[in-house]
Amino acid sequence: MSEVQFKEGLEDVVAGTSEICFIDGKEGRLVYRGYDVRDLAEQTTFEEVVYLLWEGNLPTREQLNQFTTTLRSMRPLAKPVYDLLVSVPPSTNPMDALRTAVSLAGIYDPDAGDNSYEANRRKAMRLVAQIPTMVASFERRRQGRVPIAPDSHLSLAENFLYMLHGKRPEQFPAHVFNTALVLHADHELNASTFAARVTAATLSDLYSAVTSAIGALKGPLHGGANEEVMVMLQEIGEVDHVDTWIDNALAQHKKIMGFGHRVYKTEDPRATILRQFSRQLGEQTGTIKNYQMLEAIRQTIQSKKPLYPNVDFYSGSVYAALGIPTELYTPVFAVSRIAGWTAHILEQYRHNRIIRPRAEYTGPSHRNFIPLDDRE
Ligand code: ACO
Repeated sequence: MSEVQFKEGLEDVVAGTSEICFIDGKEGRLVYRGYDVRDLAEQTTFEEVVYLLWEGNLPTREQLNQFTTTLRSMRPLAKPVYDLLVSVPPSTNPMDALRTAVSLAGIYDPDAGDNSYEANRRKAMRLVAQIPTMVASFERRRQGRVPIAPDSHLSLAENFLYMLHGKRPEQFPAHVFNTALVLHADHELNASTFAARVTAATLSDLYSAVTSAIGALKGPLHGGANEEVMVMLQEIGEVDHVDTWIDNALAQHKKIMGFGHRVYKTEDPRATILRQFSRQLGEQTGTIKNYQMLEAIRQTIQSKKPLYPNVDFYSGSVYAALGIPTELYTPVFAVSRIAGWTAHILEQYRHNRIIRPRAEYTGPSHRNFIPLDDRE
């Protein structure tokens, strides 16, 4: 093993090839299938981006109509999945509820057991269509309310907000939420996507791979960071307290949630877009204090360290202004990232080789065996 170079956390290790997503960490660019995410964020629906990630090209109007019609028809949950979500304790962590619901949905998928490309493509569509229904249904359960059935007249973004709040969203909030979904749809070999690909590469089924991904996304160093950012804002309380709070946190070598990134060495382009929405929605909904505190945190940190905000820094304040409860931020991440996970799983199946790296052994060697009765 001496010729193998070990990199802690696999930093900068290239673990495979992919045609789906490119990140330029130096320039702060994110590209899906050749398209800059800033252009997609301004001009596409999330459904177009799902199609792009899976098919490699943006759909024509006709292709999109057909695609969205099928997706909309797949939104209702299988009865056992619905029953599970309304029967688990309301105190269940929403990511645990989602992970369990997705796992159960795999058993009831009409294509269960069929691992052909066409069947996997249909499973992927069902997951994109149903994860929003799962997340919204469980949130209604948490609130002691009856889940709202999906509305097939609405886009994926509009329908999610509708199922959550029970009323159709206004145009601007729906546009913001659609953009947030576009921005989170894929991000190369992030931890959850890598977990999905590792599982898929054993030729396990698509639902198992997605369940692995949901487990990885849950952690506070990955998808859980946006919730932690909001917890931090609550702890700080006032804009005037930011300097002292950040000084203390940095002195104790605490990680500031929503800052830093393994790949971006400049500002995450998704954060730049979400910052504008954080301000605009903050002004419109009376939640501007969140934005002001975030900006104060950013300025304080950047006056001390070359650290930049990542996507999670502003997304929580955007979701808060959209009326999405904090506990739902990571599940909402999954509502979007299921697009990227499934694109990567399908790509993995197309060119598969099991992913099986090595470890640099650092344990003891050449110990003499001691029979059980002689051990002290
Ligand atoms: N706050 C304070 N210091 C930080 C932060 C932070 N958020 N992030 C990195 N640093 C510092 C580290 O202390 C370290 O400094 P040192 O070299 O003086 O010891 C240096 O920057 C490198 O940090 P690492 O932790 O080694 O970077 P790594 O690439 O392993 O981790 C990660 C990346 C996990 C994103 C990290 O920056 C972090 O924990 N950030 C907070 C959690 C977060 O926001 N996660 C969301 C990421 S985006 C996503 O998953 C959607």
